[in-house]
Amino acid sequence: MAAESTRMDHTEFTNPNLEVLFSAEEIADRVKEMGARISRDYEGKDLVLVGVLKGSCVFLADLMRAIDLPLSIDFMSVSSYKDGTTSTGDVEIIKDLSNPIRDKDVLVVEDIIDTGLTLSRLLDILGSRGARSITLASFLDKPEPRIKTELRIEYTGFVVPNHFVVGYGLDAAGRYRNLPFIGIVKDPSMA
Ligand code: IMP
Ligand code: MG
Repeated sequence: MAAESTRMDHTEFTNPNLEVLFSAEEIADRVKEMGARISRDYEGKDLVLVGVLKGSCVFLADLMRAIDLPLSIDFMSVSSYKDGTTSTGDVEIIKDLSNPIRDKDVLVVEDIIDTGLTLSRLLDILGSRGARSITLASFLDKPEPRIKTELRIEYTGFVVPNHFVVGYGLDAAGRYRNLPFIGIVKDPSMA
């Protein structure tokens, strides 16, 4: 029963291989601030939040409840091709929006901007569809590896150092999205 006793040593939320970077409480406070600012900026506009699946789902769920305005939501799923660990900027649409965005004020909601290649390709695609405005909100900004330095993130939750982070929607090989905090994986070989 060795495997079982190892399992009893910790739960996923107290995994010793994770170092907490932002706690659930810090995240909740920050998302409320972001929502308040968005509520002021989008008053009287026709707001659509476009979540980029899957990573943004937790952030979007919290952010939309912090925005005190009428709004709708939609989702896109794209696969970005990676060349080793760096994204190449080639993007394939796996799931497109359900509704047109013509004349809408679109707020694209992302989990993290790293090189910026995926998002800038996505903004090119959305840019040809006649939206009234397209603006970017990202829960995390990891500026160090940025290639698309011209990418403007209007609403940023937190700036993070150049480490691989997980939780609050972000994954490592599909795992950890359910963590209520943002953590750094201490030993990636154990992830
Ligand atoms: P970019 O094209 O390099 O900006 O890639 C951004 C995407 O890579 C994000 O939407 C995430 O899905 C993923 N990503 C980048 N950095 C991290 C990280 O530290 N943890 C988890 N996913 C990440
Ligand atoms: Mg993503």
